[in-house]
Amino acid sequence: MAAQTQTQIRAHTSSNPPEYQDDLLCSEQQLEDPEQKQESCLGSPVRCLTGESRTERAWAHWIKLGRPKFIVAPMVDNSELPFRMLCRKYGARAAYTPMLHSRIFTETEKYRKEEFTTCKNDRPLFVQFCANDPDILLEAARKVEPYCDYVDINLGCPQRIARRGNYGAFLMDNLPLVKSLVEKLARNLQVPVSCKIRIFPNLEDTIRYARMLEEAGCCLLAVHGRTRDEKDGKKFRADWKAIHAVKNALKIPVLANGNIRHMEDVHDCLEETGVEGVLSAESLLENPALFAGFQTSEWVAESEAGNIDGRLDQADLLVEYLKLCEKYPVPWRMIRSHVHKLLRDWFSLQPHIRDDLNKQSKLTFEFLYDMVDRLRQTGTRIPLYLKDTQIGFAANGYTS
Ligand SMILES: Cc1cc2nc3c(=O)[nH]c(=O)nc-3n(C[C@H](O)[C@H](O)[C@H](O)COP(=O)(O)O)c2cc1C
Repeated sequence: MAAQTQTQIRAHTSSNPPEYQDDLLCSEQQLEDPEQKQESCLGSPVRCLTGESRTERAWAHWIKLGRPKFIVAPMVDNSELPFRMLCRKYGARAAYTPMLHSRIFTETEKYRKEEFTTCKNDRPLFVQFCANDPDILLEAARKVEPYCDYVDINLGCPQRIARRGNYGAFLMDNLPLVKSLVEKLARNLQVPVSCKIRIFPNLEDTIRYARMLEEAGCCLLAVHGRTRDEKDGKKFRADWKAIHAVKNALKIPVLANGNIRHMEDVHDCLEETGVEGVLSAESLLENPALFAGFQTSEWVAESEAGNIDGRLDQADLLVEYLKLCEKYPVPWRMIRSHVHKLLRDWFSLQPHIRDDLNKQSKLTFEFLYDMVDRLRQTGTRIPLYLKDTQIGFAANGYTS
């Protein structure tokens, strides 16, 4: 039963044919043992605090983390440790894990070890769960709280699998249950609770919902400015006005999600919504150096003059990502997914190289490094661009 649900979660994004061996880890290297206790990031529990002191603690925690503005959004099979570390190197100041299924996390050691890995420099970190049972959510959250800065509840997943499993955005139909999930964590964890929501079609409902979460003990709220029915991010613009209204209605830190394709969007969003920080998902998959100011050629034509070749491209980023995967093993399906997303434009120029990749039922690092060499030998190069004002920044590197 557990194995069945695990496969279902993977189906969320994976479209690999069954004969692929992509669920195998990319290395036999020992994973860090999440059961080994580390020092907790907070001194005292959040239990039984009044609204006022909870808000103060929410802000104190956020400030202690350095008020991270640029954040890697949660992505199933895509915001795993090596990808988070790559984005952090290129300007991301915090990151979410992919959504973890709380029940499977409590039941299955293999799932825990493969789906949740982290390391010392992987902070600040939000660990995200989907859930519909407060006790199970708490049990799962307790296992990760020593390794993270927030335990996050996924209240935004609009996929069919979330409807079937009764989690994510489908809990918007059962707000008393949502309240009990947040309260359970807020009363019993050392680490603060955050939530990621979608908006309701009606602004009043969205604000009432956000206030309820805050009162239940949510210490940070990320608002994806699309409704549950607006699934296609390319088709529907996120509503920054609604995010602005939520920000104004709450006392806790608020983050915005949606429409972040490059740094100009980041600055516009921070200004228009007044939020503390932004999350980016799909654009980071194509360009993990987005938060360091790099942009793909798609946006260069739209923006003002002054863009120059940033001397970094997606193949360079893929090689860096692969090296991180050698250090921090993950299932091959995640690596395959990143290869396709990072090199999408390159493959459209050299489709035979993509065909060779698709024929590999079992990937190896040797094959992938060789594939990048072959792409480069064809003379293909699609640079990422920087504004000329950012060159000094580029020359000095991006490590924070
Ligand atoms: C591949 C992929 C996987 C995702 N998985 C999750 C997830 O695990 N949890 C979640 O809350 N949202 C998930 N999302 C939604 C994103 O976090 C984000 O809310 C959405 O893509 C809108 O942001 P964007 O406009 O920057 O892409 C996923 C999105 C993508 C593209």
